Amino acid sequence: MKYSTLLDFPDRFLWGASTSAYQVEGAWNEDGKSPSIIDLYEHPAEYADFKIASDHYHRFREDIRLFSEMGLKAYRFSIAWTRILPEGTGRVNQTGINHYREVIRECRAYGIEPVVTMYHFDLPYCLEEKGGWSNRETIDAFTAYAEILFREYGSEVTYWLTINEQNTMILHPGAIGLPKGGKLPSRKELFLQNHHMMIAQARAMKLCHALCPNGKIGPALNLTAMYPESCRPEDAIAAHNWEVLRCWNFADVPVFGWYHPLAVRYFEDRGLMPEVHPEDRALLQDARPDFIAMNYYSTATIAASRGDSSDVSARSGDQQIMLGEEGVYRAAENPHVSRTRYGWVIDPEGFRYTLRKVYERYHLPILVTENGIGAPDVLEADGSIHDSYRIEFLKQHIHAMRLAITDGVRMIGYCPWAALDVVSTHQGYQKRYGFIYVDRDEFNLKEMKRYEKDSFYWYQKVIADHGTIL
Ligand code: BG6
Repeated sequence: MKYSTLLDFPDRFLWGASTSAYQVEGAWNEDGKSPSIIDLYEHPAEYADFKIASDHYHRFREDIRLFSEMGLKAYRFSIAWTRILPEGTGRVNQTGINHYREVIRECRAYGIEPVVTMYHFDLPYCLEEKGGWSNRETIDAFTAYAEILFREYGSEVTYWLTINEQNTMILHPGAIGLPKGGKLPSRKELFLQNHHMMIAQARAMKLCHALCPNGKIGPALNLTAMYPESCRPEDAIAAHNWEVLRCWNFADVPVFGWYHPLAVRYFEDRGLMPEVHPEDRALLQDARPDFIAMNYYSTATIAASRGDSSDVSARSGDQQIMLGEEGVYRAAENPHVSRTRYGWVIDPEGFRYTLRKVYERYHLPILVTENGIGAPDVLEADGSIHDSYRIEFLKQHIHAMRLAITDGVRMIGYCPWAALDVVSTHQGYQKRYGFIYVDRDEFNLKEMKRYEKDSFYWYQKVIADHGTIL
């Protein structure tokens, strides 16, 4: 739709940037922190692991000062559960509590809104040993953890994100990391884990509203619109199948209190329905988020299943993610979009389309918690980094977001991935996302000096102009 004028970004729009604890902090076994599943999972030998990462744990003051120079209005980071509760539950590690209090206060001192993810893939390993999310007791552990966070930081944090990309963890568990021996849970078990996470999330949302008078809380899912490969009705049905199973089924539960009807039939038909306790429905219906947080990277194009094993294929450029399911959908190519060098679809119009769909479905304001392009940035001899591809990517996506706002979508903010270079989930530092370059290689840590990339100065200007000039 064309408009005679575009609406402006809302006055208090949160121009931000994101990280997650395990990808940026390092200090994996310091100050009382216990190992998370990420610390102990198998890791490809050719890439940096997460033990030292970008050393943000020790350098957060320097990093937040740089964020403030960039003009950030918000910093989205995650709290490592293993720093707060080294045994997963029970004993509180005061050093961990103090650390995040300092991070929050440092943000506030610069007028940066802290946006806190409570759980970004890094379950305490000691809980994993007791069955992890397959064990219903993990719900209680997460609820206790959430209560500590709300009591400790509730007066200083407004925006809370419950669980990062629950849909990725459940649908593509290998993308996060492989347990020792490489054995992943069965799908039946994964959907039980999903159910437990949903209840844990509902309890956390309810607690947040009870304990934090100004708190706002929401799920942080990876959401994306799907295109049918053609106007064949079978392709449209397949695209809808996967959009429901990948996206809406995960957001419907926190917002509407129960699974999407198509997903329920899918679970029942395939014997995947999780064990539901009598009190579960009431628990799920008793809580509601204040906003939807979403990570958006690309769209998918979907065709009808061929009804045989050729429906399943690895995502282009990403062997850890298998797409397609016999009798449900098949991944197809989209000739109208470009791709990153890692094969990820670049689709700013798809961003606008996804924002519209999310808002139309949930009628809740949207906080974008990830969006960005991974690339092997090059540090020049003079300390500059010319990441024009990142500027182009972000420019197009910010423009698409403004169009979505003009379409009537209510937006809270935009926190692209990433505030500074982080260890990517499985391509180490060869695939960088930050506005700030961290000078280290996969194994040579050097001095980890920080350098502003061209995108840093560009985003600084975008924020100063409130998104009007890109
Ligand atoms: C998101 C995750 O799915 O994608 C981040 O929340 C991750 O943790 C990001 O880093 C980019 O993926 P990758 O595999 O390129 O690091």
